[in-house]
Amino acid sequence: MIEVRMHQKIVQQILLVLCLFLSYNGVQGRKKLSELEDIELEKRLKLLNKPAVKTVKTKSGESYDCMKPTFAEIKQNSYGSTTNRLPTIWSKDGGCPSGTVPIKRITKDDLIRQRNMPPPEPANFDDEFVVSNNNIEQKGSYYPFYGYKRAIAIPQYDPNFTKFSGAGMATNLFNPHVEGQQHSACRIKIQNGSDILQVGWRVDPTLYGDNNTRLYLHYQTGEKHCFNTLCPGFVHVRTDIPLDMSFEDNLSHRGVITTEVDLYIYRDTGTGNWWLLLGPEYTQVGFWPHNILNELKGFATNVDWGGVIYNPPGLPEPPMGSSFFPFGNNRLDAYCRNIAVSNEDGDSVGVYSIVALTENKFAYGIQFKELTEGSNTFTYVFYGGPGISNP
Ligand SMILES: *[C@@H]1O[C@H](CO)[C@@H](O)[C@H](O)[C@H]1NC(C)=O
Ligand SMILES: *[C@@H]1O[C@H](CO)[C@@H](O)[C@H](O)[C@H]1NC(C)=O
Ligand SMILES: *[C@@H]1O[C@H](CO)[C@@H](O)[C@H](O)[C@H]1NC(C)=O
Ligand SMILES: *[C@@H]1O[C@H](CO)[C@@H](O)[C@H](O)[C@H]1NC(C)=O
Repeated sequence: MIEVRMHQKIVQQILLVLCLFLSYNGVQGRKKLSELEDIELEKRLKLLNKPAVKTVKTKSGESYDCMKPTFAEIKQNSYGSTTNRLPTIWSKDGGCPSGTVPIKRITKDDLIRQRNMPPPEPANFDDEFVVSNNNIEQKGSYYPFYGYKRAIAIPQYDPNFTKFSGAGMATNLFNPHVEGQQHSACRIKIQNGSDILQVGWRVDPTLYGDNNTRLYLHYQTGEKHCFNTLCPGFVHVRTDIPLDMSFEDNLSHRGVITTEVDLYIYRDTGTGNWWLLLGPEYTQVGFWPHNILNELKGFATNVDWGGVIYNPPGLPEPPMGSSFFPFGNNRLDAYCRNIAVSNEDGDSVGVYSIVALTENKFAYGIQFKELTEGSNTFTYVFYGGPGISNP
């Protein structure tokens, strides 16, 4: 454990040094790498890319390295059961061997591209809104939103339910068109103060180097933040689920809704660790240990579901979700379905009363609806929009 902490500390220090002189060059963008930068990048690559036990391929031909998880004491068998029926994404030779997890090899190009990642959504985003009678009013001069625009649902305030130990949804998957530094995502977000955990899907060429729709996780604590396992933090325990998994074979199109993905972030009452659960049987994929968090050592105070896009200042706003405004139709729209939160005791309860919020109603919409299918009623947060090509 001590060894792991030291390792984390060293990585953090190197990242700090790297950030310092990368931000020095940030304004000039893709400037040629200086020799010093090059050495630092190589060093960081060595730290991130530990030796692989095996290299495996997905059905669509992507390569992943099988590596031992960061925390040596994690034993595969102690989390979830391997009998969970998850659709396999691996080609015939199978996924990673037991005790290792699939991790995309990080290249120098990845690191260089990721230097252009925008800062995360500000933690005080929601303070900019006043909630009254189910309506959201914008406070003061809020524009320009730091480049982020959202179409999200938050639970209606309930004085008897102010501590959340989790949040979940089922969501369908689209591939909104983004260019350059734009990105477009759908997510669950849980927060207390400046601690934020997110899971969802996104199209983000700056992060991934392609335009695929991919799974993502993000954590933010104070000034520190990162995606997937690009920095130490999230402990990945499932051998069959890469955290940046591409959903290319499972995208929905208007009129053709295919696979949904179930996502849940859940606080383990015993340990205080926040687990990521995925798939129809809520398989435990990994967790954010409580000791890397500050305010989320306890419960979450805010939860939201829906779409978020980013456009660099002055540039067009990309499409969100299905790329059309929602009609309230589950064969057409992008949605977050069966939205739920967990209470202090860890019980999951459906959310039937929400407040909808969108920053730019000319570009993105959001609707909440209950639809009856057979004898069941499901809640839907429909979201999305075309964006704006000439801001
Ligand atoms: C994607 O869709 C295919 C075909 O419908 C299905 O067999 C597979 O299980 C799905 N994959 C995921 C990751 O849901
Ligand atoms: C909160 O709980 C109290 C006591 O159980 C109850 O009287 C009150 O109606 C509840 N308030 C809401 C908004 O549900
Ligand atoms: C993403 O799509 C845009 C528009 O088709 C294209 O210009 C860009 O090169 C693509 N990016 C990547 C990394 O494939
Ligand atoms: C949120 O964090 C603050 C600061 O750590 C803590 O005092 C508070 O109890 C937390 N809220 C909940 C609901 O746990």
